[in-house]
Amino acid sequence: MNILRTITLAIPVIFTWLLMINCSKKNTPVVQETPNPTNRIEKLLQEMTLEEKIGQMTQYNGFWDATGPVPNGGDAKWKYDHLRSGKVGAVLNVSGVENVRKMQEVAVKESRLGIPLLFGLDVIHGHKTVSPIPLAESASWDLEAIKESARMAAIEASARGINWTFAPMVDISRDARWGRVMEGGGEDPYLGSQIGKARVQGFQGADLSAHNTIAATAKHLAGYGFSESGRDYNTVDVGTSTLYNVILPPFKACVDAGVSSVMNSFNTLNGIPATGNHFLQRDLLNGRWDFNGFVVSDWGSIKEMIDHGHAADLEDATIKAANAGSNMDMESYAYVNHLKKAVEEGKVKMEVIDDAVRRILNIKEQLGLFDDPYRYCDAAREKELPNHKDHHATALDIARKSIVLLKNNKNNLPLSTSQKSIAVIGPLASDKNSPLGSWRFGSDDNTAISVLEGLDAQNISYKYEKGAELVTAKTSFLEEVKVNETDKSGFDAAIKLAKESEVVIMVLGEHGFQSGEGRSRTKLDFPGVQQELLEAVHAVNPNIILVVMSGRPLVLTWAEENLPAIVQSWQLGTQSGHAITDVLMGNYNPSGKLPMTFPRSVGQIPIYYNALKTGRPGPIDLVFWSHYIDESNAPLYPFGYGLSYTNFKYSNLKTTHQAVDQANFVKVTVTLKNTGKRAGREVAQLYIRDLVASIARPVKELKGFQLVDLDANESKTIEFTLHKDDLSFYDNEGKLIFEPGKFEFFVGGDSNASLQESLVIE
Ligand code: NOJ
Repeated sequence: MNILRTITLAIPVIFTWLLMINCSKKNTPVVQETPNPTNRIEKLLQEMTLEEKIGQMTQYNGFWDATGPVPNGGDAKWKYDHLRSGKVGAVLNVSGVENVRKMQEVAVKESRLGIPLLFGLDVIHGHKTVSPIPLAESASWDLEAIKESARMAAIEASARGINWTFAPMVDISRDARWGRVMEGGGEDPYLGSQIGKARVQGFQGADLSAHNTIAATAKHLAGYGFSESGRDYNTVDVGTSTLYNVILPPFKACVDAGVSSVMNSFNTLNGIPATGNHFLQRDLLNGRWDFNGFVVSDWGSIKEMIDHGHAADLEDATIKAANAGSNMDMESYAYVNHLKKAVEEGKVKMEVIDDAVRRILNIKEQLGLFDDPYRYCDAAREKELPNHKDHHATALDIARKSIVLLKNNKNNLPLSTSQKSIAVIGPLASDKNSPLGSWRFGSDDNTAISVLEGLDAQNISYKYEKGAELVTAKTSFLEEVKVNETDKSGFDAAIKLAKESEVVIMVLGEHGFQSGEGRSRTKLDFPGVQQELLEAVHAVNPNIILVVMSGRPLVLTWAEENLPAIVQSWQLGTQSGHAITDVLMGNYNPSGKLPMTFPRSVGQIPIYYNALKTGRPGPIDLVFWSHYIDESNAPLYPFGYGLSYTNFKYSNLKTTHQAVDQANFVKVTVTLKNTGKRAGREVAQLYIRDLVASIARPVKELKGFQLVDLDANESKTIEFTLHKDDLSFYDNEGKLIFEPGKFEFFVGGDSNASLQESLVIE
């Protein structure tokens, strides 16, 4: 009886005790072991004081970007003291060999342990030589060219002292209103993953310690591309299935490709800021994905947890961010001021600090900085490599491949050199700045080849009228662009020129700083008076070839309905004008395909091809199906779409499969023929649909693509092989699962691909 009573009494005690263990486990950050720390790093860790460790976890914005004497006044003075006392592990926005060397010297020679600094910069698309914006490059679907472009950027940036880039941005986005779509790979997780991986490989090369490779950063973990209503920094609210199947795969692909760092994001996920998100940073990234690198916060994102209402003050934010796995503080001044106390009070464990520092030092070691802190400080390389003429060839190659031909109904393109009179109209035709796009810190203003210069270089005779200014003032990366909404004084001359000409090339679109960070728009039209100009010119000469320069998909519905030819040229970087001229004149047969759906109207956004079917897909005779009463559901141009100066025909689609656990268990073959009169490149795309699943699957999902070059009349059989994982999906616990059943396979030149076969896979 007594024993029974003792047991009965003990049960609640044991239960409470178990509960406590469980809770304390929950509160204890799961610190995964950093793989292979070298002896040097372990030894260093043992020697470091807590302040020095926290120093490695701190990144300051450049306070020393001018050559000259050591800064000793104002803001720079205390930062300089911190540098000397080992309280800084990395800086950003300092470049140029002389600046970098001087700062590195302070860290290496004047600080107690002489640990070299990381020098980070947003090297997003090229450096001095500017490549097309990432969204444009993604339209090439050419992974080798994309990798090459990132290589070139790494070569140039590393020659200017940079050893770490905050790229690639792999945020999937379905919302063209969001200005940062220009910086990513578009809307599709498969394409986005391939591109992210190619960029990481390009930046980091085969050997991170080489003097011409730099550490890459996959950003922003996670969900930032889903900012509500496309407004930058806005709340994000995504479902679990979308998170696992759409948002996370490109990050996982970068981790698998060995990316050195990951940047967290400004937004919350399920109410928890990404910066303080244990699930994203520790459970997923360090845990399930076995990530070896370190996590850097986004600019001030630790501090912003206070504004989010997740942290009471900077001390609280510090504790939450550090415990959740934000290893380095970019510009919140949180760790430097509050982490020591938090550790001393036991609110952040020493193992959390050691883990972060180990991860950061590992990357420094991999970069070769311990062996030679000045590895990236070679004045001769700095003189030779940025803006190297070989890089212009690389930039031109990817620029041509990025152009998407949207319409060419009457074969107005390519233009013939015997054309009697060509008018060029539009503010962007002479613009040497906008084609450089946003995020181009290493470049000099006005260094792009304009469309006019491109035409000149090929001796094409034309007459030019600007028609209207796009903006009213010179603008910078930090400022809002001021658009000309009223001045139409140039219209008359443009109209007169159009009247007298056989064909009109109109170059319209967005200013280079109308997309990028903080540049969200509600209207996706041509800013200012440009649409009016277009319609006024059209009234006197409808034979218009429209060249659209933009950092995002615009709504081109009027143009599609009224003009014979449209070329989407995005912002193509340094070689812009040459690439556009090559396409207009037919020296290059366009092959780009859209990495993002182009809407018919802003109200359709978010619009994307890999949507779920809904329970009322329609159409039915009654009104009660999923549609708009004033617009079609269809996009203007679907994902994957793009024309060529030749035509391609797909036929003979066949699918076979082996047992599920065979390596390439599904084979899809198709015959592709160039039925036109000139050689061309087609991006053949394979989509699947999993018809019935425990978690509903999209109507189509891209699972493969191939770049196929064909001469006129040539045909080829192309083969896609799929692995079991390609037919699997993530369940709501984040587990990749395969469910047997019926699958459909579609092959074609865009996401409307209708050539279809199906297989039942047991
Ligand atoms: C904020 C941006 O969100 C991030 O992508 C960038 O790398 C940092 N600023 C540093 O410039």
